Amino acid sequence: MTAFQPAFPDAELDDNQSRAITLDGQRILICRAGGTLYAVENRCTHQEAELEGGRIRGCFISCPLHGVRFDLRDGSPMGQLTRVSLPTYEVRVMEGTIEVAI
Ligand code: FES
Repeated sequence: MTAFQPAFPDAELDDNQSRAITLDGQRILICRAGGTLYAVENRCTHQEAELEGGRIRGCFISCPLHGVRFDLRDGSPMGQLTRVSLPTYEVRVMEGTIEVAI
């Protein structure tokens, strides 16, 4: 069963920034892109690099290691290096705190 779990204060994440957290043993990356929050697994499906700090443009994040771009909306990759999507998670803000459904 999925349940929303608190991550960190909404005010701590600027636009086009990302922050890695671990919830329930899962490595999750919370991103704000174009003002919208997204949560994806913090592990590139190419060679498992962490995606934290990857460049965010529009609703895409680029892997810092080899540059694969992932669509934050559904985790789908662009290009040839990987065809495996990132797992995505529901995310919301409750009383100023970002919460992720695990
Ligand atoms: S590990 Fe992310 S693109 Fe290669």
